[in-house]
Amino acid sequence: MAYTHNCSMITVLLSLLVFATFMTTYAAGNFYQNFDITWGDGRAKILDNGQLLTLSLDKASGSGFQSKNEYLFGNIDMQLKLVPGNSAGTVTAYYLSSKGSNWDEIDFEFLGNVSGEPYTLHTNVFCQGKGNREQQFHLWFDPTADFHTYSILWNPQRIVFSVDGTPIREFKNMESKGVAFPKNQPMRIYSSLWNADDWATRGGLVKTDWTNAPFTASYRNFNAETTSSNAWFTQQLDSTSQQRLSEVQKNYMIYNYCTDIKRFPQGLPTECTAS
Ligand SMILES: *[C@@H]1O[C@H](CO)[C@@H](O)[C@H](O)[C@H]1NC(C)=O
Repeated sequence: MAYTHNCSMITVLLSLLVFATFMTTYAAGNFYQNFDITWGDGRAKILDNGQLLTLSLDKASGSGFQSKNEYLFGNIDMQLKLVPGNSAGTVTAYYLSSKGSNWDEIDFEFLGNVSGEPYTLHTNVFCQGKGNREQQFHLWFDPTADFHTYSILWNPQRIVFSVDGTPIREFKNMESKGVAFPKNQPMRIYSSLWNADDWATRGGLVKTDWTNAPFTASYRNFNAETTSSNAWFTQQLDSTSQQRLSEVQKNYMIYNYCTDIKRFPQGLPTECTAS
């Protein structure tokens, strides 16, 4: 009698656990629930019950999606698998942006390349319509072979760009030095796959080879942490992360606006020199 009773209790508990796990996965990753396809006339698709999203690009059009929600701060992860093979001239943009002429924006852009040559990961931060803060990287893996996690930690003190948990860029709140910081305008998540062969690959020298079309990029495992009582809201880079950030910047950064003195003959932007 007691045995039977325990057994059914365990069954109930186990089913509850399975159900809870399922619900968490579902809520975290579901593209139907979190995103709207906004353009591309059928070239963007949500697949596998909402677990996978693909964008495609052909000669006639690219495609894109945006989040249903707006975020004012967040710790946002997305896994991307980029256009494989000869992706020269293609750009996969994945970014946060607010609206209006004084918009804020936090950008990841992946610039394709010919087969075997590295993608360029381009990053930028706009505050109140002012950008010009490009930093570019090559990656330490082939971003087309597998899904990798690209994260934006955006809290009131800093913006941290990470790749597979390794921070690659930090933009600190330097309002005390007179540098605007995005903190008042909610942003949506946007992503698009489009053609930019007038500038993307080796500055526009390499054109898109349309015989490879359609080009496809894939997305999965979206997760956004937004509860401000949680650790991410005050998170800073600990010394290990700081170390990894310096190593990535030393070994993989190919462009840094903060060292481009030719571009800023009147002096580098304040956030580059203030500490
Ligand atoms: C493409 O490959 C060339 C040669 O390796 C490299 O200089 C460039 O940064 C790569 N990325 C892009 C987007 O041009």
